[in-house]
Amino acid sequence: MKKVITYGTYDLLHHGHVALLKRAKALGDYLIVGVTADGFDKERGKLNVSQSLAERIENVRQLGIADQIIVEEYEGQKISDIQKYAVDIFTVGSDWVGKFDYLSEYCQVVYLPRTRGISSTVLRASNKPAVKVGILGIGNAAERFFSECKAVSGMEVTAVCDPDAQNMNKFCRGKGLERTETAEDLYAACDAVFLNTPVNEHYEQIMAALDAGCHVICNPPMFLTVAEANRCYERADELGLVLFEGLKTLYFPAFEHMLLLVKSGVIGAVKDIDVSCSQIPEHMEQVETNKYLGSLYDWCSDVLLPIIKLYESECLDCQLIDFQKGDFSYFTRGLLRYQNATASIKVGKGIKVEGELIITGTKGYLYVPAPWWRTEYFEIRSEDLRNVKKYFYNYEGEGLRYMIYSFLHAINGTERSLVHTRQDVLRSTAILEKFHRGEYTGIEM
Ligand code: CTP
Repeated sequence: MKKVITYGTYDLLHHGHVALLKRAKALGDYLIVGVTADGFDKERGKLNVSQSLAERIENVRQLGIADQIIVEEYEGQKISDIQKYAVDIFTVGSDWVGKFDYLSEYCQVVYLPRTRGISSTVLRASNKPAVKVGILGIGNAAERFFSECKAVSGMEVTAVCDPDAQNMNKFCRGKGLERTETAEDLYAACDAVFLNTPVNEHYEQIMAALDAGCHVICNPPMFLTVAEANRCYERADELGLVLFEGLKTLYFPAFEHMLLLVKSGVIGAVKDIDVSCSQIPEHMEQVETNKYLGSLYDWCSDVLLPIIKLYESECLDCQLIDFQKGDFSYFTRGLLRYQNATASIKVGKGIKVEGELIITGTKGYLYVPAPWWRTEYFEIRSEDLRNVKKYFYNYEGEGLRYMIYSFLHAINGTERSLVHTRQDVLRSTAILEKFHRGEYTGIEM
């Protein structure tokens, strides 16, 4: 008996899939179809799949072509499946030519012609018009946002606005984007807006964008004061729009899993969190002229994220020490007290600290090496130093696509469980507000 194996996502099953499966079956006597697990698709950066694994399996099963259906859960599984099921032929569509030649060591590899003019991607796009996003403020983050949006179907950057016309022309080259003169024109041209601007400009921009009917995704931190935050959230609620802090760290696969692990008690009760972030920008001399780009103004949402997500309670006391020259802050150190737990933070701009995260518990500790906010790896360590558990994760591109995907889900009302909630934002804003009001001990740089 000749055994054939093929793999795919089979999202929104279409006639291209059916043709491929029929051809695959005709290559032998017994067909095994591997359907990709949701987690595996996510890991390889395919974030646009609209049906669940169970639905996709059921669709393939109902065709009655496959003799056996298996789930593909990890990179490298194909070799093990081929050996396990004593497969004679591996086959996929011609869009993969060359990609699986390495399997010819284990079985015959056949690339079958792909059906023209149809794909899951095309179907997804025609099912729902894409959300049109405008970018206000050009810079590195805008470039990354633009390219990562392409990996998330259902969302498309269509327009930009920046006061610096030269900058805007450079950014737009070859991208086919609309350029608007004013922020108001940008809001009018889009369904959603990405605010890539300093924190002191956010309040007015958010209010104007919401009033123009746009959903908002905003560079962190969103607000300088709790009162401003409350007003913006109330307005978003009244208008039925999404107001979303664009804190990409939260949506990284490793970070998400790390939170769940700690909450499930693997290191016991969390007693302390030690977390640092810093950056020396390429053009520090330009950055130093805007106090809102200084240490805590820039980093507060990131550095407080693990603390807020793990303690899920109010900070009872917060002491800050700040190193500054003029009104620019280079380095801030903070000690935070919670009910039965503590945290310490260090943030730097124009100063470098080891950007690691250590979560201390009663049974052990979790260590995330620098830069923890772009993490792919962490360890759980306990008293017995030989007993170190290591966790590795993959993310695609800049990692931003996971956040954009969550924003899209929030707009579509299919919010995922892990988001930066209003309460989270209010808690981190309260700490920034204290700093903003000058409640810290200042030290001259
Ligand atoms: N396939 C095909 N003809 C098409 C579409 C897909 O022969 N028009 C084949 C692929 O080559 C693959 C299998 O069907 O062997 C499953 O492909 P999958 O990636 O699930 O489908 P796509 O429509 O290509 O999905 P997407 O647009 O999300 O990449």
